Amino acid sequence: MKQLLITEIPQLKLCNRGKVRDIYEIGDNLLIIASDRISAFDVVLSDGIPYKGMVLTGLSEFWFTYTSDIVENHLITTQIDRMNNSAVSQFSDILQGRSMLVKKVKVFPVECVVRGYLAGSGWKEYQKTQAICGVKLPAGLNESDKLPEPIFTPSTKATTGHDENIPFSKVVDQIGKKYAEELREKSMKVYLKSSNYAREKGIIICDTKFEWGVTADNKTILIDEALTPDSSRFWPLEDYQPGKPQHSYDKQFIRDYLEGIRWNKEPPPPALPPEIIQKTSEKYLSAYKALTGKRLI
Ligand SMILES: Nc1ncnc2c1ncn2[C@@H]1O[C@H](COP(=O)(O)OP(=O)(O)O)[C@@H](O)[C@H]1O
Ligand SMILES: [Mg+2]
Repeated sequence: MKQLLITEIPQLKLCNRGKVRDIYEIGDNLLIIASDRISAFDVVLSDGIPYKGMVLTGLSEFWFTYTSDIVENHLITTQIDRMNNSAVSQFSDILQGRSMLVKKVKVFPVECVVRGYLAGSGWKEYQKTQAICGVKLPAGLNESDKLPEPIFTPSTKATTGHDENIPFSKVVDQIGKKYAEELREKSMKVYLKSSNYAREKGIIICDTKFEWGVTADNKTILIDEALTPDSSRFWPLEDYQPGKPQHSYDKQFIRDYLEGIRWNKEPPPPALPPEIIQKTSEKYLSAYKALTGKRLI
């Protein structure tokens, strides 16, 4: 099975190689390429997951379109032949389906997390303070419970190390009240519309992280990837059982395998057996199919 681990486009300027995506600059735009790299326990594994980058790109495109009536976004096209760039066209067979040409904007330094359920760092904070990011919650909630209503729980955009949950007042200090309120309102709206849709398709979007930026003509638009398994916790609705941690939609086989062989979670990561790679790839493809109603391959 084909998988793409890394891209090299010598004619373009590489801006960032993240855990999963390679980002190049094209004039006033960015080319965001989702590779098939996958990380587990914060380490990028040596194997890729076939079609993962295509699923991330296809889902982001799907959600950008689905929410375009409520928020503007940065997507220009995912079609290589519409990018009008010879360096990109030259690599069209590996880039098609996993690349987004987007407007480059000034990025707000806030990770706009919305939570509909209690998991991860939110669950940890709730146990200590009965609140998340200063948002008070009812007593007696259990792990993975649905919250009475979704909440906005921003975090810092750390360049190194882990993101840190911050109260809304800190976002106000950083970017001013007007933008802080705008990001909160827009993030909540996008989460509500999308998570209601996903639930009908059998997927709970427990929580998700949005990023926003501002254009030269001062419009606040949704950027980065949107509502993918990499930026969100997806749970299969049919297996949902509050009161304990839920299986993640996509990475469960990998985490179970790595825990099983007692990897110390420090690089270098161990190789994955072919059947784990295959099963994980199928999970990504099935999330795509469930949400978009279409088969990717
Ligand atoms: N339209 C955009 N304009 C400018 N920066 C963007 C845009 N969309 C995404 N970004 C930025 O690109 C970077 C993507 O990095 P990412 O692939 O997530 O790697 P990392 O693992 O470092 O988070 C993020 O810093 C994000 O804020
Ligand atoms: Mg990122």
